[in-house]
Amino acid sequence: MNLKKKYLDYFESLGHVVIPSAPLVPENDPSVLFNTAGMQPLIVYLMGEDHPYGKRLCDVQKCVRLTDLDSIGDETHHTFFEMLGNWSLGDYFKHESIEYSFNFLTKVLNIPVEKLAITVFKGDDKIPRDDVSAKRWMDLGIKKDRIAYLGRDDNFWIAGESGPCGCDTEIFYWRSLDPVPIVFDVLDERWVEIWNNVFMEYYQDADGNISELKKKNVDTGMGVERTVAILEGVNDNYLSSIWHDALELLKKISNLPYEGNEKSMRIILDHIRTAVFIAADPSGIKPSNTNQGYILRRLIRRCIRHARKLNIDLNSNFEEEIAKVFINLYKDTYKELGENEEVVLEVLRTEKEKFNKTLEKGLKVFDKLTKDMKDVDSFTAFHLYDTFGFPIELTVEVAHEHDMNVDLEGFEKLFKEHQKKSRTASQGMFKGGLSGNSDMEIKYHTATHLLNAALRKVVSKDVHQKGSNITSERLRFDFSCDHKLSLDELAKVEDLVNEWIKADYKVEKLTMKKEEAISSGAECMFIDKYPDIVSVYKIGDVSKELCGGPHVEHTGVLGKFKIKKEESSSAGVRRIKAVLE
Ligand code: ALA
Repeated sequence: MNLKKKYLDYFESLGHVVIPSAPLVPENDPSVLFNTAGMQPLIVYLMGEDHPYGKRLCDVQKCVRLTDLDSIGDETHHTFFEMLGNWSLGDYFKHESIEYSFNFLTKVLNIPVEKLAITVFKGDDKIPRDDVSAKRWMDLGIKKDRIAYLGRDDNFWIAGESGPCGCDTEIFYWRSLDPVPIVFDVLDERWVEIWNNVFMEYYQDADGNISELKKKNVDTGMGVERTVAILEGVNDNYLSSIWHDALELLKKISNLPYEGNEKSMRIILDHIRTAVFIAADPSGIKPSNTNQGYILRRLIRRCIRHARKLNIDLNSNFEEEIAKVFINLYKDTYKELGENEEVVLEVLRTEKEKFNKTLEKGLKVFDKLTKDMKDVDSFTAFHLYDTFGFPIELTVEVAHEHDMNVDLEGFEKLFKEHQKKSRTASQGMFKGGLSGNSDMEIKYHTATHLLNAALRKVVSKDVHQKGSNITSERLRFDFSCDHKLSLDELAKVEDLVNEWIKADYKVEKLTMKKEEAISSGAECMFIDKYPDIVSVYKIGDVSKELCGGPHVEHTGVLGKFKIKKEESSSAGVRRIKAVLE
C-alpha cells in the first residue's frame, strides 16, 4: 500500500505539479519553529505571488506540531508527521476540489461512500453558510444526514492568529467495526477526520479583520500516519506498517511486549523519528537551550527517560539502531536523511551521553531536595534545570510520578530572568502560527540580499549564506567566512548597502531553470532543495538570488541600513545583525 505514491500520481494526473517538501525549519519566517502544515511554505503564493510551477500543486510535506507534545503516548498523536496536500492557486475552487477528494477516497482508495461523513461551515455574521460545498457533496452521493454544519472553531481554518484563511470542509471516516450510524454525530469518536479542504479566499489580520485575498485558493491536508492506519484497519497508528520495523526492534531491545508498555514505546519511537528529521534538516539544528535546538534536546531527553523506564541499557546504542530504521525507511524520499546520517547519529549519541551523566545524579538530587516538600518549588525546579539540564517538562513528569505538582509560574519567572540575554525567541513561537510577512519583514528580506552581495564584494567571493532569520525589528544573517570582520570591512559593507539603497534599484522577479539560474551566477543556499524551475530575485546588477520572495519593488524604500553586531556563529560561520532605520 503506497498511499503517498497513489496520492501524488492521482493529483499529477489532474494537472498538479509535484513539488518537493520544504525543509522542516522555515526560512525567513521567525514566527514558527517548524512547518506545521503543507501550506506554510506556500504562504506567499496563497497571498498572491505567482508560483514558478503554476496554479496546481501537490506534495508530501514534512511537518512538526508541538501543540500535541503532551498527547504523545496515545494511539493517534505524533510530533512529526507527513502531510499530503494539493493546492489550487487561484485555479479551481470548491466544485473540483470536493470532487477530486471524493474520487480519490472512493475510487482510488476504494473507501465505501457509506463510511464517509462531512462537516461544512455553518455561517456567522461575517461569512455566510457554505451551501455550495454541502450541495457538491450531496450531488456526489453523500447523504444529507451525513453532513454536519459547524462553526468557526471547527470549519474555519487559519495557521495561527493571522494569514490566509477560509472556511473548510472536513472529511470523516468511520473507524470502527460497529455498524455505521445513519446520522453523522461529530461527537462520536468512532468518526475520525481524515482530510481537510480549506477554501482560502480571505486574509485575517492580527486584529481579526477579514479581507478578500487576490485569488481564491484551495489548500488541503491529509495526514499520512492516520490515513495509513485507517487503510490498514488498525486503531492504533503505531501498529501500522509505518512503525512496524522500528517497533519490532524496540521490543527486541527492551525484551518487553508492546502490550502494557505502549506509552513509553510510542514516545520513544515518535521522538526518535522526529529527532532524526530535525537533526537531518538542512538548517543544521543541534540540541541547545533555545528555539528548535531546545525542542530537539527535549525530544531526545524525554525519549531517554522513557527508555530508562523500560530498563533499556542507556550505555547501549539503542537510539542509533532505532534511528537507522527510520533513516532507511525515509531516505529515498528525503535525501537529507541519508546524506546526514552520521550527523544525525552523532547528535543522538552525544545528547544521550550528556543527559545520561546528569540524569542519575539529578534524580537523586530531586529525591533529596523534595523529600519534605508537598509540591516542588520554583527554586528546586530551576536548580534541576540549571545544574542538571533537566527540562522543566521532565521535572513535571518526575514530580507527577511522586504525586507532586511544580510551581511553574515561579519557574518561568526565574527562567526568564536567567535567560534574558540568550533567549530571544518569544514564547509565542512555541505555539505555532504564522502572521504572513509584514512590510518591515519584506524590507529586511530585500536588505538581506543586499547584505549578502555586499559581503561578497567587500570581504570575499567565498562568502555564502548559511542562515537567515528576520523579524520586523532586525535581520540576522549567517555566512561562511574564516575571519572576524574588521571595522573597516564592516564600514565598507554598510556603506555599499546604503549606496545601493540610494541608487533605488529595481527588484525584479525572474523565473528560470535551476541550472540556468546557477550558471548565471545566482546565489543559492541549498541547491537540492529547489525544484527544477525556480524564482530568482534580481536587484539592479548588484544581486541575484534564488528565492521565493516576497521583496520590495525598489531598494529606495529601505531607509538607512546599519550593522549592529558582528560575531561568531559557529566554526567558519560569522553572524551579522543589522537594522533599517
Ligand atoms: N492547512 C490545512 C490543515 O493543515 C489543510 O489542516
